Amino acid sequence: MLSKTIQDALNKQVQMEAESSQAYLAMASWAEIQPGLQGVTEFFYKQSDEERVHMLKLIRFINERGGFAMIPALEQPLLTFQSIIRVFEEFLKHELKVSDSINDLVHLSLTEKDYATHNFLQWYVNEQMEEERVARTLNDKLEMIGDDKSGMYLFDRDILNYPGVAEKK
Ligand code: FEO
Repeated sequence: MLSKTIQDALNKQVQMEAESSQAYLAMASWAEIQPGLQGVTEFFYKQSDEERVHMLKLIRFINERGGFAMIPALEQPLLTFQSIIRVFEEFLKHELKVSDSINDLVHLSLTEKDYATHNFLQWYVNEQMEEERVARTLNDKLEMIGDDKSGMYLFDRDILNYPGVAEKK
């Protein structure tokens, strides 16, 4: 059985994952109407789907453990971006915020002696390491590319080969 403290904290994480899904959906939609960003578009549609899966896993866990997962109202995400670089900066910033939140949850599960939740959260710890790595790599690449149009062309083409993107097309 979940304590009220853990249930509330997990529900806050549900909201964060839902807002992540919305934020990446907005990035995908913005990218889709820019010329030549088909790869980036698919990448963010896929990221959005993944965040929804993260949210669903939490909802199912809360309910299975005798709690009540409350579906939250969501803030409207950023809809437009000055450049593709800004999109990926936001992506990294967002993932770092999610990692902080997961770390706080892990800490809370230990102080509350809720080892089942602690165990459940390890999946998110690993997922965050991977997402931060991807976001950092893509930001580094964009910094290298700068204003080089052919570099950008290759970036957009290569991002289609990121795991999970190709099969979503
Ligand atoms: Fe589920 Fe990328 O945070």
